[in-house]
Amino acid sequence: MRAAVQRQTGDELLEIVDGIETVALGDTDVRVEIKATGVCHSDVHAMKGDLPQGVPFVPGHEGAGVVTEVGSLVSTLAVGDHVIIAWSPPCGKCVACVDQRQPHLCVMIQFAVAGLPKFTDGDTELYGMAGFGTFAESIVVPQEGAIKIDDDVPFDIASLIGCGVTTGVGAAINTAKVTPGSTCVVIGCGGVGISVIQGCRMAGASIIVAVDLNAEKLETAKRFGATHGCKPDDLAGVQAEVTGAAGGFDFAFEAIGFPQTVRAAYDAARRGGVVTVVGVGGFDKMVEFNMFELFFNEKTIHGSYYGSADVRSDFNRLLRLWKTGRLDLEGMISQRIKIDDVNDAIAKMLRGETIRSVIEF
Ligand SMILES: NC(=O)c1ccc[n+]([C@@H]2O[C@H](COP(=O)([O-])OP(=O)(O)OC[C@H]3O[C@@H](n4cnc5c(N)ncnc54)[C@H](O)[C@@H]3O)[C@@H](O)[C@H]2O)c1
Ligand SMILES: [Zn+2]
Ligand SMILES: [Zn+2]
Repeated sequence: MRAAVQRQTGDELLEIVDGIETVALGDTDVRVEIKATGVCHSDVHAMKGDLPQGVPFVPGHEGAGVVTEVGSLVSTLAVGDHVIIAWSPPCGKCVACVDQRQPHLCVMIQFAVAGLPKFTDGDTELYGMAGFGTFAESIVVPQEGAIKIDDDVPFDIASLIGCGVTTGVGAAINTAKVTPGSTCVVIGCGGVGISVIQGCRMAGASIIVAVDLNAEKLETAKRFGATHGCKPDDLAGVQAEVTGAAGGFDFAFEAIGFPQTVRAAYDAARRGGVVTVVGVGGFDKMVEFNMFELFFNEKTIHGSYYGSADVRSDFNRLLRLWKTGRLDLEGMISQRIKIDDVNDAIAKMLRGETIRSVIEF
């Protein structure tokens, strides 16, 4: 089969290779024929090494498709089921899953699969992005990593739920718990940031300010619920205008992954406000806060991992919001492409031109 492959950490272009095979199906695995997969900025973080990732590997983690084979001990899925890939599925048994009730923080399956080759290219073993690797026509995943959905959901729509939408909407409604009438600012309007904006809108925020370097994105963001849009340099002025005496936003989101934009999100939140960091950065990227501001401003700053979502229920919850017209997923697809054009799609993403490119097989 055909797949996109990265040979070395830091390579900027993916190789499109024929003749890739999956590893053998284990007793508790399912084989999924990938029908559509979104291009997420986290793929680039894995390519650059910001995210720990074995090489060579097949990128891609935002996918949907059809189950074509099930292992002998698989109880939850059958051949023909339509599924969304969950790149960090809960095991359902560990401390995070049961005692702490934070299934999105379960690493039992992700750490296990990330260390195992998922594909072969002749004699060469290939890893998959985060243990998955959806830039391939077919993958083998643990049964927990494929969530069943209704057959009538188009695969391009379904694929978006696999990462960006769950991450962004979840950051707003699960992690930050945006409240009706609140004021929000979202820094970065890619697939994840646009999803944060939609989450804030669905949660009933009264003001949603979209911030991006790309002026076109600011207009686009308004289609998804942003009430205002500005370039980073204009944020302080807009903040003063729309938040008035509050002095800042109730909720500030960072959806890019730079120290300076995390700092900007912190500065944009009001005293007592909530700062949610969704963007991914490397181990060497440091953000500074002084001791005075930390206690005096009493802001809450927290990360958000996979939208603090329980993929077992949240994938279908998000699809219900889409089906009832409350969540716009069609509008998030900037272009549908073939795997051969993945490098061009990545370049467009890096220029901030796309919300999501979806690869269709
Ligand atoms: N926390 C999680 O679980 C999780 C999951 C998925 C993705 N992510 C991360 O979320 C981030 C966003 O992902 P994405 O796919 O939306 O990326 P993207 O590249 O599509 O979007 C980033 C946006 O930020 C804008 N931008 C870039 N630099 C800017 C700056 N200095 N100021 C203002 N705007 C700027 C770009 O124009 C673009 O619109 C990435 O770091 C990604 O790895 C995190
Ligand atoms: Zn677990
Ligand atoms: Zn992603």
